[in-house]
Amino acid sequence: MSDTAPDGARDRPAKSPDELQFIYADAVETFERFEALERRLVGRYRQRLFSRAQGTVLDVACGTGSNFRHVPEGCSLVGVDLSAAMLDGARREADSLGRDITLAHADAQRLPFDDDAFDTVVSALSTCTFPDPVAALREMARVCRPSGRVLLFEHGRSSARPLAWGQDRLAPRHFEQMGCRWNQDPEAVVREAGLEIRRSERHLAGVFSSIVAESTVETDAERT
Ligand SMILES: C[S@@+](CC[C@H](N)C(=O)[O-])C[C@H]1O[C@@H](n2cnc3c(N)ncnc32)[C@H](O)[C@@H]1O
Repeated sequence: MSDTAPDGARDRPAKSPDELQFIYADAVETFERFEALERRLVGRYRQRLFSRAQGTVLDVACGTGSNFRHVPEGCSLVGVDLSAAMLDGARREADSLGRDITLAHADAQRLPFDDDAFDTVVSALSTCTFPDPVAALREMARVCRPSGRVLLFEHGRSSARPLAWGQDRLAPRHFEQMGCRWNQDPEAVVREAGLEIRRSERHLAGVFSSIVAESTVETDAERT
């Protein structure tokens, strides 16, 4: 077995935004049903990472809002997602937390915000699903102010060989069902997008990664 994912690479035709919306409209109920279990499994990692957020915060591909409770109360928070159904779930989560969170429909690859608009950008379990994760990460860097942080909680190919082997075998089917490249290498994608990784930690047999990155991508304004 090789140490690099044969199949986590972006070598298959990407799912279209319409296909992703369809997939995630169906997934909302499952996300909400397994929320408590997910929180027990990875809630502490989300908490440790996203409690670093400061100021104005953008949650990209916020889904049903699993990150919201981990972003400090004093922050002003905006969540965006491609899926209207997921955003409905995010609204329910914001209401249950009693937090005033702005939610909007948006494509991560074309974020409708000015350069440097946010102090912190957060995103979880998302780069595996974006049709073009490098473009999406560059957008996150663009809308994050210079020296602001991009905080990513991602999943990818396990560092435990038997588990990685299983992931590789099932990757094509999982991609077909969920549009998710679950054996990708999240750090490699972040580096390819030109962000600088300040800190990275892997959890649970290396399947999950907490990444603190900083934008080194120049915006148009910075270039001139
Ligand atoms: C696995 S879910 C993760 C949701 C949430 N961040 C979490 O941690 O539970 C992936 C999310 O990415 C969203 N998504 C996929 N492609 C997107 C895109 N191009 N722009 C914005 N959101 C997208 C999906 O609608 C879905 O809500």
